[in-house]
Amino acid sequence: MSRKYRPLFNSLLLHFRPRTVPERTLQFTLTWGLGGSAVILTILLFCTGILLKFVYEPVISTAYESIVSLQQDVLFGRLVRNVHHWSANLLLLIAFLHLMRVFFTGAYHHPRRFNWIIGFSMLLLVMASNLTGYLMPWDQLAYWAVTIITGMLEYIPVVGLWLQTMIRGGSEVGSNTLSNFYAFHTAVLPIVLMIIMPFHFWRIRKAGGLVIPRAPEEEDESEIGQRVPSIPNLLLREVVMALVVVAGVMLFSAFVDAPLQAKANPGLSLNPVKAPWYFAGIQELLLHFHPLYALFIIPLLTLGAMVFLPYVNQIGHCPGVWFISYRGRRTAIAAAITAGILAPLGIITHEILRDSTWVPDLLPIVSGLISFLIVIILIIAIAFLIKRRYSATRAEIIQSVYVLLVIVYIVLTITNVYFRGEGMKLVWP
Ligand code: HEM
Ligand code: HEM
Repeated sequence: MSRKYRPLFNSLLLHFRPRTVPERTLQFTLTWGLGGSAVILTILLFCTGILLKFVYEPVISTAYESIVSLQQDVLFGRLVRNVHHWSANLLLLIAFLHLMRVFFTGAYHHPRRFNWIIGFSMLLLVMASNLTGYLMPWDQLAYWAVTIITGMLEYIPVVGLWLQTMIRGGSEVGSNTLSNFYAFHTAVLPIVLMIIMPFHFWRIRKAGGLVIPRAPEEEDESEIGQRVPSIPNLLLREVVMALVVVAGVMLFSAFVDAPLQAKANPGLSLNPVKAPWYFAGIQELLLHFHPLYALFIIPLLTLGAMVFLPYVNQIGHCPGVWFISYRGRRTAIAAAITAGILAPLGIITHEILRDSTWVPDLLPIVSGLISFLIVIILIIAIAFLIKRRYSATRAEIIQSVYVLLVIVYIVLTITNVYFRGEGMKLVWP
């Protein structure tokens, strides 16, 4: 690089990369390499996505055939599609685990509060990318899953139907839906992601780097540890992580094909029609709650809880200490076990009650309100019991409630993916 541009390049680079980093933040058990892996997967998705665009035809008459031809006639076509498919699914999982690590190390408190919101928006963008990509192969799986997910929108009060028609580009899933999804998938969402992601990295730099890991008894973050040069200490670790992720995805994609069913047939519905796994929890919620709660009130409350968490939970925070404290670890385990037992019990009990004749027939909206209130009361009762049993602080209680909700959502997802059969009845997998 010419001498003239070197200061400019260095100054731009230093907005994202520090010259030195605290030695402790290099511990693998702080980040588990999750943020870095998410970046690598995003890069893989962009590269393979661009390659796919050379062959894929976004019109319903030939979309499916173009995927078949990609797999059969194009050199490495199957591999490229597999890498795109598996990276997309893995990215969701990794981004979720990264969110969990940020949450459990308290890395969402000031000065990282806003970065938590940016990160959460990125997770939503990745979900949207996955959903819009899901329709692309235009096979039975894609068609019916997107029909059921966009069908859910109509339960959103006031704007639901309008939103559904906008997204589908008409009343049914068809050629307009495919071109809408294609435009979002290959232009709108990648561009937004490309703008937001550097902002996420810059905010880390602005917060003075990653949160510094420490033991509960170590009081002040600023006194901990010495700094070491980023090159080679940080860079080497990043390169190793990148190579491991790329090699892992390539190897997996070489042996496991992305699913492709028969071409979409609007006249032949699948039974059961299941949402993709990342929406399976919501689909399961819908089996237990009135759509108003399952698709509107509960998601809205979740969204609010995620966005406002760093602003509400400020007392007693301990950034850098996993699970806040030793007691925080015990309360989190207690919450996880409670949720792990109560959630499956709740699902089975509801299934039995729904089919029994001795439960009075109430208006769906009233029975929905009753189930919703029961769940809220249960959550408050569990939080109260944890407080009494462990003399937990406010931050520890908030953490326990989060653990409880996450485990419940995971149980709902697993139930929907593995334990629902024909007519969405509970079955053994
Ligand atoms: C595509 C998704 C994402 C990518 C590519 C990404 C990338 C990264 C990277 C590379 C780091 C630094 C290394 C590390 O902590 O592992 C980081 C840190 C961070 N991320 Fe993300 N992230 C994503 C999603 C999220 C989500 C969903 C959240 C939370 C809701 C989040 C919140 C944060 C916060 C608060 C930090 C600073 C952590 C600290 O200071 O210790 N990110 N992210
Ligand atoms: C976060 C980023 C992305 C995610 C999560 C994602 C996800 C997906 C998914 C799940 C599919 C369906 C794969 C299948 O089963 O066949 C897909 C297909 C596709 N994606 Fe992406 N994608 C991303 C970025 C991109 C980008 C940046 C482009 C191009 C600019 C792109 C172009 C395509 C094309 C052309 C298809 C259709 C081919 C096919 O289905 O195999 N994607 N994407």
